Amino acid sequence: MGKILITGGAGYIASHTNVELIEAGYELVLLDNFCNSSMESVRRVEELTGKKVTFYEADLKDIDALRKVFEAEPEITGVIHFGALKAVGESVEKPLMYYENNITGSLNLYKVMGETGVKQLVFSSSATVYGDPASVPVKEDFPTQATNPYGQTKLMMEQILIDAAKALGWDVTILRYFNPVGAHDSGRIGEDPEYPNNLLPFVSQVAAGIREKVMVFGNDWDTPDGTGVRDYIHVVDLAKAHVKALAKLAEKGGVSIYNIGTGKGYSVLEMIEAFSKVCGHQIPYEFAPRRAGDIATVYGDPALASAELGWSAELGLDEMVASAWKWQSMNPKGYRG
Ligand code: UFG
Repeated sequence: MGKILITGGAGYIASHTNVELIEAGYELVLLDNFCNSSMESVRRVEELTGKKVTFYEADLKDIDALRKVFEAEPEITGVIHFGALKAVGESVEKPLMYYENNITGSLNLYKVMGETGVKQLVFSSSATVYGDPASVPVKEDFPTQATNPYGQTKLMMEQILIDAAKALGWDVTILRYFNPVGAHDSGRIGEDPEYPNNLLPFVSQVAAGIREKVMVFGNDWDTPDGTGVRDYIHVVDLAKAHVKALAKLAEKGGVSIYNIGTGKGYSVLEMIEAFSKVCGHQIPYEFAPRRAGDIATVYGDPALASAELGWSAELGLDEMVASAWKWQSMNPKGYRG
């Protein structure tokens, strides 16, 4: 087992993945620019696993800094590429920042991998690449489309990687995540957004009394209760998919793409009700107009990941909301507390 470079290594999904990788015996080199994360998550990963990780504060946009990391760490054999900006609304307001950060950052990474002969990569993609699908559950061969600059960057990052992999003989796994939620069952690591754009962190903050009520974006969607339906996936299940993907890269070369979801959809109201049960009081909410760019329903078919990676989600809605609430209760100020 070589060393694995984790870009965006201090972020939400990376921190959970780091724990699973360390427990599986991998040595990690983390890289982050802290634009949306903190060193405290790295410290807590070390505390949870009892292992030290190597850490570099560097920006993927700085190719020389990246070269220095690869020079200092010649044992790197593979990369998990999480490092990217990810807020849909912000990407609409600041498209150039998104293209520059996500595309330049990825190009630099792929270039330095080419220069140093590192040929294995797991890429953090998103179900956003399916846009508004013609039917559900979505399968990996469904047409892709982007509805905002963030989604465009994910599609482009995928495409650039596929082209590079073909030309340079790389082994690449693209994981298309559905909606990651929840936290590690220790309550020590979790999602720590500056402002919660996504449903579950917002619901958590309302449950904790930090915000007054949840605004439910639309109750007139063509869904059973009129609110949006998504495929929520526990972040620990998602983290485990990366361990399976890395292991499989060693045997199955070429480019593979997998949906990483549960295959089940829950509505906004079902999520609020499930959260109300675990926190012990009804979470206040109000119906508001639809959010621009939203769609009614998306959930994935995870059968390919099950057949080829031997991965499937093990944790259900109860574990998702209970772990999110535990993290929120134990860390009311996130990593700043
Ligand atoms: N929602 C609300 N109120 C809120 C926040 C969200 O009603 O305050 C609703 C949305 O309208 C949607 C559902 O909750 O129906 C989920 O919304 P999220 O913002 O949590 O997630 P999205 O499905 O919009 O998008 C997320 C990520 C994207 C990713 C996509 C993949 O934000 O980065 O999942 O499907 F690409």
